[in-house]
Order: sequence, then structure tokens, then C-alpha cells
Amino acid sequence: MADVYDPFDPAFQADPYPAYRRLRDEEPVHRHEDPPFWALSRFEDIWAATRDAETFSSAQGLTFYPDEIGTLGLAPTIVMLDPPRHTALRRLVSHGFTPRRTAALEDRLREFVRESIAAMERKAADGETPDLHRDFASPLPTFALAHLLGVPDEVRERFDPWVSALTTLQDDGLDLRSLTDGAVEAVAEMFAHFTEVIERRRAEPSDDLISALTVAEVDGERLTDWDILGFCFVIVAGGNDTTGNLISHAVALLDGDHAQRERLAGDPSLIPNALLEFLRLEGSVQALGRTTTRPVTIHGTEIPEGQKVMMLFGAANRDEREFGPSADELDITREIPRHLGFSSGVHFCIGSHLAKLQARVALEELLSAYPHVGVDLENAERISSPFSRGWKSLPATGIG
Ligand code: HEM
Repeated sequence: MADVYDPFDPAFQADPYPAYRRLRDEEPVHRHEDPPFWALSRFEDIWAATRDAETFSSAQGLTFYPDEIGTLGLAPTIVMLDPPRHTALRRLVSHGFTPRRTAALEDRLREFVRESIAAMERKAADGETPDLHRDFASPLPTFALAHLLGVPDEVRERFDPWVSALTTLQDDGLDLRSLTDGAVEAVAEMFAHFTEVIERRRAEPSDDLISALTVAEVDGERLTDWDILGFCFVIVAGGNDTTGNLISHAVALLDGDHAQRERLAGDPSLIPNALLEFLRLEGSVQALGRTTTRPVTIHGTEIPEGQKVMMLFGAANRDEREFGPSADELDITREIPRHLGFSSGVHFCIGSHLAKLQARVALEELLSAYPHVGVDLENAERISSPFSRGWKSLPATGIG
């Protein structure tokens, strides 16, 4: 199967779906030799693994690289903790993600989206090709997170390069060695900024997420600055490109089926369901890992204790065993009772509401202004990553 499934191969990354199908059908518990890890690809198996944190631990990191946490030089962030500490921290930070707090952002997001559309129109009027990913989809989550984290306007300009640096880091599997000097500086600057904010909020709490974390206690202990920094880090690293890529994939998928694009533009009430379908077909997070805490047997194959197991969400979300014979096809009205686009179990994405809100507002505004918006796939550039799926550049068509 090594000839079919090589997570580093650009051809696999460009179109992983045939390899996923073979893995699901022929080797649902696949052993990868170098680096050594196991890969699960069927929906039911991954669903079960995400919901069994005792056996499939997050504490050794989420990639197949050894010593991921040491490399990062950070306190383990929420996504790399197991219960019970995870449970306590999750309860705390969930205060920052209440539906009320999230919904309050809608008007600001809509205003921002309209400005981005106007900027793309100006570009088109000047004879340039607007880039759907760079000019539209990607700036929106950066803006949303800056608000959530209370980054003041005067710091906003510096926030964007910090985010790009972290995104590069994330695409390469959170390996600090992959960063250029400029990016290392940007990450250091971001940490310095948030350390300052934490100090200020400790002295004078206000109504934002960081203030809530400074007064919060887990097991009778206050969170340290490192804990809070780690949380800022995971939000910025986890909430940006994932959301931007969902928006870009949505437009790309709709450009492959103009009848469904027309239907969605004519009836925006279908957008929330369509978003799940976009995420199912082209998930921003294709694979994440766990480490086994005991031997576990799946389909007759024993995975020993202490092994890295990658959960191929991108394969699971197209499993015919779960989604039927049309699993590879776009159907914006498909009923999707469960999917793995945001994972499942205790680590289920805490920002899923915020991500869906942003994508909904972005599509409502874009399809209303430009119902025939599309993308030029021939001149697009993908990110290359074994873990994420998305774009560096995606030229837009049909704008202006
Ligand atoms: C389409 C957009 C998004 C996708 C596809 C996505 C995907 C995911 C996935 C797959 C996980 C689970 C990790 C695991 O099982 O180990 C996760 C966790 C998480 N996500 Fe998201 N995410 C998105 C947007 C966001 C946003 C907007 C935020 C924050 C504002 C965010 C913050 C987090 C955090 C903090 C966790 C860790 C939760 C925990 O460990 O309990 N995500 N996300």
C-alpha cells in the first residue's frame, strides 16, 4: 500500500481520495513504515477512536512526529491534554465560546466581508485578478480571532504576520525547525504581546476571553501565563486556516456544480447544511494522530501500546459505509447526522460555531453579490501538508 498511500507525496496531497478508498477497502488498519505510524480510514473506526481518549491519547501530540511537544517549546495546550485535566480546562475555556459571545460578532464579520468584496472589486477594476483565498477567505478568521482575543486595532497590523508564521508552522506539523528566522521572530513577538496582555488583565480584568482565563482555576490552581499563552496559541493556530479553507473549498466545490450553486444563491437558508457537506467532502483537517496507551485490536490487527495512530478524517468523511454510494458527490441538501470534519469526542472542535458563523456570513454575502463566483483551479496553489487541506492561492473568477 506504500505505493498508493504516501502522505508526503504531492500527487497524493493533490488528490488523496483514490488512496483513501483503497485504504478503507483493502487495509483499514494500515501500517506506515517511515515514519512509523498506523492509519485508520473507516468512519466507524475513527469515530470510535476519537471517543476513547483512554486508549487513544492526545498527550504525545497530534502528528506522527516524535517529541512534538518538546519541539514546540510550549506547555501542552488543551488539544494535547487527556482527561481529567483536559475536562477541567475545556470547561473553563468554553465560557469564551458561548453562542451569545459568538453571535455578537456577526455584524462585525458581515461588515468585514462586505469590505473584502469591495476590495476584490477594486482589484478587478484595476485589471488584477482577485484571489479568493488571500483576499477574501483567509483574512476573515484572522479578523474574527483578533476580536475574540481582544487584540486592539493598533496591534492588528502586526497580528496578521504572526498568524501567517503560525500557519506555516502548523502546515508543517508544528515543527519549529520549519520556520524561517522572520517567522520565529513573529511567533516570539506574538507571545510577548499576549504575555503583556495577560499581565494587564491579571491587574485589571475586563469582559474578554483572556480575562476569564486569568481568574479561572483548575483543581484549585490558577492557570499560569504559559497555560494561557498555550491557549492563545492553539486558537490562533487552529482557528485560522481551517476556517479560511472551508470558505475557499465551498466556492471551489460550487464551481464544480453550477446547478447547486444557483440553488444555494437562490435560497441562503440552505447554507448551514451545505457547509457541513463542504467540510465533509474537503475537510480542512485531513488527519490527526493519537498514541495508544494499551494494545488494541481493530479488524483483527493488533496495534501495540505506545504507537502513533493517524485518524484519516478525510477518508472517513467519504466512507460509503457511512454516507452511502454517493459519498464522493456534492449534495448540499444531504442529511448529515454525524461527520468528522470537526473531530468528535472530548476534543470536538470548540470553535465550530464560530467557524460556521464566519463561513455562513461569507457565503451569504459573496453569493448574493456574485452568484456566479468561481475559481481558476489551473492557476491555484495548494498548501502541501500531510495533515491539512487547503490553499495558498485561489484566483477568483466572476467578480467585478
Ligand atoms: C472549519 C474550521 C475548523 C476546523 C475544520 C477545525 C477542526 C478541528 C478539529 C478536527 C479539532 C479536534 C482535534 C482533535 O480531535 O485532536 C479541533 C479542535 C479545536 N479547535 Fe477547531 N477547527 C476549526 C475552527 C476553529 C476555530 C474558529 C477555533 C477557535 C476560535 C478552533 C479552536 C479549536 C480548539 C481550541 C480545539 C481544541 C479543543 C479541545 O482539545 O478540547 N477551531 N478543531
